[in-house]
Amino acid sequence: MSTERKYLRFSISDRIEHWIQVISFGLLGFTGLIQKFSAAEISVSLIALLGGIETVRIIHRIASIGLMLGTIYHLGIAGYKYYVKRNRISMLPTLKDVTNAWGLFLYNLNVQKHKPQQGRYTFDEKFEYWAFVWGTLVMGLTGFMLWNPIASAKFLPGIFIPAAKAAHSGEALLAVLAIAIWHFYHVHIKHLNKSMFTGQISEHEMLEEHPLELADIKAGIAELPQDPIQVAKRKKVFFPVYSMVAAAMLVGVYFFISVEETAIKTVPPAENLVVFVPYTPTPLPTPFPTPTPAPLTGNTWNEGVSSMIKSKCGACHGTTVLGGLDMHIYEGIMTGGMSGETIIPGDPDASIIVARQSSGDHPGQFAEDELKLVIEWILAGAPEE
Ligand code: HEC
Repeated sequence: MSTERKYLRFSISDRIEHWIQVISFGLLGFTGLIQKFSAAEISVSLIALLGGIETVRIIHRIASIGLMLGTIYHLGIAGYKYYVKRNRISMLPTLKDVTNAWGLFLYNLNVQKHKPQQGRYTFDEKFEYWAFVWGTLVMGLTGFMLWNPIASAKFLPGIFIPAAKAAHSGEALLAVLAIAIWHFYHVHIKHLNKSMFTGQISEHEMLEEHPLELADIKAGIAELPQDPIQVAKRKKVFFPVYSMVAAAMLVGVYFFISVEETAIKTVPPAENLVVFVPYTPTPLPTPFPTPTPAPLTGNTWNEGVSSMIKSKCGACHGTTVLGGLDMHIYEGIMTGGMSGETIIPGDPDASIIVARQSSGDHPGQFAEDELKLVIEWILAGAPEE
């Protein structure tokens, strides 16, 4: 195995690009998903672990800057390869990719004997690449609108902001699942492909995955020889043009992150407030609503105790006549209830009203000083006037 010939698949700059994407995409996906599913228990603890939602949002934004810078870098690398070095534009989809996809489908069904022969990038690799390009465009555009909603609403209807949020979070889920399922399956599970880390790929893998490229390499036509004078000329064009494009894009990134004071800066950090206070159940029996008794002027029924007794006891002994006792009128209280006389003038100890109230468990209770007044009134002979 060790003597098997290796081929360079990814140059160091390709691998740097990939690492920029791994880190920024990974961080974006992670900090994005815990915001999308912020109510889930795991998100709550992860957000707390990272130091709160503010920190999570800042990490998300820094990672997005990483992705934007990675994109600018990628344009430079790709431009250099295809313009200066005149590499083949191997990532462009062709009609052949459609027949390759169909061929692989038939091969997987065992209808076709041979795998379709593919070149440097297989149709599924191209699909993944262009899906990533599309995803980055959508996420960048909607991300801009969420980062700068006020600026966006100046030239777009306001409804675009929540729409951008829906698109941002839906596309994000799609992208994360595409990487976690499609990409990881193809490069880690189906067959552990280390080329993005080592840069190299074995002859066997080349034969399996990229036989047409291998044939070109063997025939010496994978990279066509270039006239060094022409290359030097093209470099003279490429570097100034790319510098300007990159500078303009960097200005764009700066605009992206600074055009507006957004929620991160303008809303004060969250405070901890108790938002749910459970009711303590009212102890039974329900205390009877007691209007403030009118001030007593004299110790008689009319001048003194009657208004207090009516308001404290009247609902059960007057409006209704519980225990046969009506205390709304003087005659009623003096007649008494089912147990006989309620009031024995001059003798509070013999009066049922005092006995009942002293036990302290009656559904309607006098306060202590109110009971004292009633006792004094009885001692005074319970006069009406
Ligand atoms: C929530 C209703 C309610 C309120 C308010 C209430 N009572 Fe009664 N009371 C009753 C019921 C029911 C009875 C009959 C059962 C019993 O004897 O305990 C009764 C019986 C009585 C009796 C005995 C009557 C008899 O002859 O058997 C007295 C005396 C009495 N209440 C005094 C009072 C006084 C004084 C107040 C005001 C401080 C008061 N009650 C407020 C419900 C109430």
